[in-house]
Amino acid sequence: MTGNTDEPAPMTTPFPDGFLWGASTSAYQVEGAVSEDGRGPSIWDRFSHEPDRIEGGGTGDVACDHYHRYPEDLDLLAGIGLNAYRFSIAWPRVQPAGSGAFEARGLSHYDRMIDAMLERDITPLVTLYHWDLPIPLQDKGGWAARETAERFGEYAQACFSAYGDRVRIWVSQNEPWIVSLLGHELGLHAPGHRDLREAVTVGHHLLLAHGRAAAALEAAGLGDGSRIGVAHSLFPHEPASASAEDAEAARGSDGYVNRWYLDPLLKGRYPDDMRARYEERTGPLDFVQPGDLEAISARCDFIGVNYYTRRVVRHAADARPFPWKVIDAAPGMARTDAGWEVVPESFYDLLVRLARDYPGVEQIVTENGGVYNDAPGPDGQVRDGRRSAFIHDHLEAVARAIKAGAPVIGYCHWSLLDNFEWALGYDKRFGLVHVDYATQRRTLKASAAYYGSVASANALQAVPEDAGG
Ligand code: FCB
Repeated sequence: MTGNTDEPAPMTTPFPDGFLWGASTSAYQVEGAVSEDGRGPSIWDRFSHEPDRIEGGGTGDVACDHYHRYPEDLDLLAGIGLNAYRFSIAWPRVQPAGSGAFEARGLSHYDRMIDAMLERDITPLVTLYHWDLPIPLQDKGGWAARETAERFGEYAQACFSAYGDRVRIWVSQNEPWIVSLLGHELGLHAPGHRDLREAVTVGHHLLLAHGRAAAALEAAGLGDGSRIGVAHSLFPHEPASASAEDAEAARGSDGYVNRWYLDPLLKGRYPDDMRARYEERTGPLDFVQPGDLEAISARCDFIGVNYYTRRVVRHAADARPFPWKVIDAAPGMARTDAGWEVVPESFYDLLVRLARDYPGVEQIVTENGGVYNDAPGPDGQVRDGRRSAFIHDHLEAVARAIKAGAPVIGYCHWSLLDNFEWALGYDKRFGLVHVDYATQRRTLKASAAYYGSVASANALQAVPEDAGG
């Protein structure tokens, strides 16, 4: 009964005033409309149409049709009770060849979208590069070519002048490590290359591209009052045992995954241990030119934290110069339907460690979520209680990290919508909103209501007992 003061107060933990409560998507994963309004092809259009690249054979041709349905999707986001939306601009929509002419219809699409957010009191967090490189740039070398960073600077400048009056938070690059690793070392993502030296070169040029964008933001006179940062795929590391060798393996792998990207941006240098390993394997890193590290570290206002799970590693002497191996340490542990361990405690450790190692740098959780494939029941409801519990436990970790001094200013759940999950296709569902791909019908999942209750209260809430699953 409302107003009954005898009722126990809900177990709540408040978040800081003005905390951003958001959900994330990226252009290629949701937009569809790949040939409309002058959009050029990206490397993901080409890659997803090649045989055997995508589980189940899907492409982003239609995806969630967000290009046309964004007003409805923003209504859903606002209706949930969220106040922020992280989305990405498709470079080939606004500059189809990746250099030269801009496409007015693409530019005005995002203009309308941003206005639609502001009308709904939704703060836009705009990612400039979430993996959809225009093909003409790939055909000139892609991110392995230094010139691509220069082109990115020009594209970023155009976005700042088009939207900088309304957008205050910019993510220049999404997950440089994943682009390097899956796109260029293992060949599992576009452009599907397998070459370690190329992968390391690409990683550097992605960071340099951030530097070029940060400089363009300053040059546009938007330096004050705006933030620009990089969203990283961060994995906290745990050694497989208490041995000194495993501790060293965990430290080494942390260099490969985390420090290699964080240190240049925030400390102005590549970590020595990892640099030596790369040089041993691939030769001198002579693509790092004088002045690059100054440009990369000139300005990075926040750490975008994409956190999904941890890595447990063991020493592997035969794997020199990368003497570690990722192991499955806890077969009995809770997992998402993608098999990823659910470890909120590692999320807490990560946020606190970032605050310790990069003091004073704000943090925004730009992605966190899990695959739970619950479908609508006979009554049409999606009772994804496991996702609600996941959200609760990870937000509890965020709240504790904030208490311990981590300057976290927002949390964006991955994802607003079930969508095209890259090489995993359409079978893995990360959304707060269920999408029936045959009809494009959207259904709010129970977890959306739960997450919305936290956002609306700006305080952690208990998961309702009837949350399902
Ligand atoms: C991240 C990506 C995002 C999504 C999630 C599950 O690596 O940034 O686009 O695919 O993983």
